Amino acid sequence: MTRAFNFSAGPGVIPEPVLERAREDLWDIFGSGIGVLEHSHRGKEFDRILAEAEADCRAVGSIPDSYKVLFLQGGATTQAYQVPMAFLPDGGTADYFHTGKWATEAMHEARRYGTVHTAAGSEATRFDRIPEDSEVRYSERPVYVQYTSNNTLMGTQWHRLPPAPPGDAWFVCDASSDIYSRPIDVTRFGFLYAGGQKNLGPAGTVLVLVREDVLDRQVRELPWMLDYRVQAQRESRFNTPPTFGIYLMGQTFKWILGEGGLEAMRSRNEAKSKIVYDALDASGFYRPHARVEDRSHMNITFFTPSPELDARFIEEADEAGLKNLKGHREVGGMRASMYNAFPRAGAEALASFLADFESRHG
Ligand SMILES: Cc1ncc(COP(=O)(O)O)c(C=O)c1O
Repeated sequence: MTRAFNFSAGPGVIPEPVLERAREDLWDIFGSGIGVLEHSHRGKEFDRILAEAEADCRAVGSIPDSYKVLFLQGGATTQAYQVPMAFLPDGGTADYFHTGKWATEAMHEARRYGTVHTAAGSEATRFDRIPEDSEVRYSERPVYVQYTSNNTLMGTQWHRLPPAPPGDAWFVCDASSDIYSRPIDVTRFGFLYAGGQKNLGPAGTVLVLVREDVLDRQVRELPWMLDYRVQAQRESRFNTPPTFGIYLMGQTFKWILGEGGLEAMRSRNEAKSKIVYDALDASGFYRPHARVEDRSHMNITFFTPSPELDARFIEEADEAGLKNLKGHREVGGMRASMYNAFPRAGAEALASFLADFESRHG
């Protein structure tokens, strides 16, 4: 059976070779006579899975030894509260860039623990852009500065880092929807997190990259499960970890390395998104949402002239094998998510469908 073009924002497309490999390993991994789902998280097979996943993760992102690689649970949503819970002291301030729903949620959670200062934001224009450096106003002594590198719902992406944080504050980055889609200099961050279900594998496993000295700055005693120091000491397996998620992330890292690493991911992703943006720009019929300079290479958001036509577009695209193009319920319109594993042929198919739909309804 042929696979559809899946534009889902997450869980999203997993590389086909990874799925094929997983199909075999589900039955029997490493010739052990036991499938990957059935091995103990303390056994030597899982030791190997975990060690390879970490090593390959480090190889993909050139992550230095001074950073811990953690595979945690609870989705990126848990990181949104776990970070301030761990690092924002009573009476302390953390700065946030307010660029979309995930930032809104993270700010809401952080207010439980300290003061949240908005460094800059784009709420006034429905989060259609990334703030200019000239708009950024950091607070005097933030503990950290948090931003979302790619705003999944709105289709905007930072194509540079925000201005350097003041004092000894460090960047926290929610990179859930563009992690490993392009080269990254991890040393610019104190803490970075990404839910797995877009570029790294299945939902339920979160990748955390944290600088060791940041771990020492934890300001509260937390339950062991939520204590990053405990998770680091216990190699992310304080309890039974999501073994299959870690396995699939590991396979995805191997796939990225085999495809040429992050430079290859970047050039592919830029080429794919250009095909669709060019098609949108060539038409007076569609209205893309994000400001041109801040357009995401991962999630492309756009509208037809009316909500009725949007609904028609989604329905007809689905019939044509272009699946999951409906925009997020808070935004409406269409969203085409094209993560690392999404094929170029899918971008080309969407570009021709855009022209075809316009010729029939424009
Ligand atoms: C940028 C970003 N942050 C956070 C989340 C929340 O992730 P999760 O559902 O894994 O908790 C998402 C999910 O789509 C996201 O795109």
